[in-house]
Amino acid sequence: MSFPLIEIDRLQLIGLTEDHINDLFEQYSDEEAMKYWDGFPHKDEEDTRKLVQRLRERYKAGTSIWWGIKFKGTHKIIGSMGYNRFAPNGLAVIGYMLNRNYWQQGIMTEAVTGMVKFGFEELKVHRIEAHVTPGNTVSERLLLKLGFMREGLLREREFYKGTHQSLIIYGKLVSDE
Ligand SMILES: CC(C)(COP(=O)(O)OP(=O)(O)OC[C@H]1O[C@@H](n2cnc3c(N)ncnc32)[C@H](O)[C@@H]1OP(=O)(O)O)[C@@H](O)C(=O)NCCC(=O)NCCS
Repeated sequence: MSFPLIEIDRLQLIGLTEDHINDLFEQYSDEEAMKYWDGFPHKDEEDTRKLVQRLRERYKAGTSIWWGIKFKGTHKIIGSMGYNRFAPNGLAVIGYMLNRNYWQQGIMTEAVTGMVKFGFEELKVHRIEAHVTPGNTVSERLLLKLGFMREGLLREREFYKGTHQSLIIYGKLVSDE
């Protein structure tokens, strides 16, 4: 399929290209935005270039979809988000990040709402999960507001940033919409 574009209220979700590396580096090099992310902040634009390549390869392989977020009528990519994995009639796992200059303006409330709707209606997934690192209360607040349920804490389930990390699992079923 051609890359799916999503429009929601003020925003457009578009495919990421090499042209967006500079804007994405702003997010992925920001230590505060990356505090709860499952990887270290990017050191240089080469890190971000490799990320964009990986995301594009995974999209081609049909295993994930990752969008850039921008305001309608502008070009700057202010955030990124997507499905790290998805399976029709099965499970999808989402992730999302916004450039810190745009926090607390309701942008991710809009963007995640649009992405979840797309997941249930177009990708036909049955269940959407978000994995939150303990301490990321803003992300938890966003998910609760969007009708996700806190389902539990998986103790030291992942290893990243050099340490064993616990995950809080949030889930939403198609029947919860
Ligand atoms: C989590 C994140 C995406 C939220 O994006 P955002 O666009 O600022 O969120 P919104 O403005 O839509 O707000 C969502 C809710 O969180 C609350 N919120 C947002 N930022 C907050 C803050 N700094 N302190 C307290 N509450 C906050 C909002 O008030 C809103 O709840 P409300 O409507 O009940 O008031 C953003 O903080 C981010 O990119 N963080 C770094 C990356 C990250 O941690 N991603 C999640 C990985 S699981």
